[in-house]
Amino acid sequence: MLRCLPIALFAANLLTAASFDKDVAPLIRETCVGCHNEKLASGNLNLKGYLDTATVSANRQGWERIAARIRAGSMPPLGNARATPEQTDALLRYLQDEFDRFDRR
Ligand code: HEC
Repeated sequence: MLRCLPIALFAANLLTAASFDKDVAPLIRETCVGCHNEKLASGNLNLKGYLDTATVSANRQGWERIAARIRAGSMPPLGNARATPEQTDALLRYLQDEFDRFDRR
């Protein structure tokens, strides 16, 4: 029985861990890219360049700014479609976990 435990824990971790493709990219695409794209780079920011998981380490400064605006609730601006609090939490948790992981290296 105990021999199954590591596998069970691993599976549980896979189920609960936030992921870039599930929790980050879709929200950015749906609630940010409408204003932050190559044509309409609001605040001089094209978020289409942020839809790849590799950018989290490659462009951490940019992601820190994104996380700060989302955490503060100032992006997306009031009156625009935004993610649910649960989705927002998952996105911020994913980013913070990644930043923490980079800092431990
Ligand atoms: C309705 C249009 C609109 C939407 C939707 C929107 N933004 Fe913005 N954003 C702006 C405008 C306009 C600015 C520039 C004014 C300002 O800084 O508040 C801006 C500025 C920013 C900045 C600051 C740029 C910098 O580097 O100084 C960040 C970061 C940002 N937005 C992130 C986001 C994120 C993340 C989302 C989605 C969760 C989002 N925005 C959704 C219009 C939008």
